[in-house]
Amino acid sequence: MISCCIFDLDGVLVDTAKYHYLAWAALARELGFEFTPEQGEATKGVSRMASLDIVLRAGGMENRFSAEEKERMAAGKNARYLDYVNRMTADEVLPGVLPFLQELKAKGVGVVLGSASKNAGVILDRCGLRALFDRIVDGTLVSKAKPDPEVFAKGAELAGMEPAVCVVFEDAAAGVEAATRAGMRSVGVGGSPLLAKATMQLPTFEGFTFEKLCNQID
Ligand code: BG6
Ligand code: MG
Repeated sequence: MISCCIFDLDGVLVDTAKYHYLAWAALARELGFEFTPEQGEATKGVSRMASLDIVLRAGGMENRFSAEEKERMAAGKNARYLDYVNRMTADEVLPGVLPFLQELKAKGVGVVLGSASKNAGVILDRCGLRALFDRIVDGTLVSKAKPDPEVFAKGAELAGMEPAVCVVFEDAAAGVEAATRAGMRSVGVGGSPLLAKATMQLPTFEGFTFEKLCNQID
């Protein structure tokens, strides 16, 4: 039985992964090196400071900066990221997402957000998605980043659901691992080979329904 769907945000409901990448790549350029899209893959699902470490490692600069300098760099990246986010509209909700969320609501299935982002609230508001969520767990509410299961465990707990009836939708390997560690099934969204450990794969939400989810996963 599936009673609750828990959604990652970046790269699942909206394509903010490209904005995260552009903001990190701009920081890398300021530091004098290129941060490639392939290297950017590893920042998906990972907290802001852990992402900064990935960027610095790519430039061979992992031990060069103090904690304060790193905080300043992360703040600069976030300001750049928010420049993109503050221009987002509902048009950037990925194809098929809205009808699927609306169907879940209509059928009384729990709809929960489980995101590592501290910017989740502003993105949900800009894209008109907030009202569709019963519970929202974001980076301001959790202390342990994915692949730790905290974000999904907390989401299920707030929604009053057992892990066994929850399904997590994720575009990042760290998120799929977090779901598994939380005792939940998972849907790997977007078709990356890095999501092979998810219970099932979903290239896009277009044409996807709750019935198809139940048929494929239950
Ligand atoms: C995740 C993204 O959802 O949130 C990561 O996949 C990002 O790339 C993380 O680093 C933290 O986001 P933010 O918005 O708090 O910097
Ligand atoms: Mg994601």
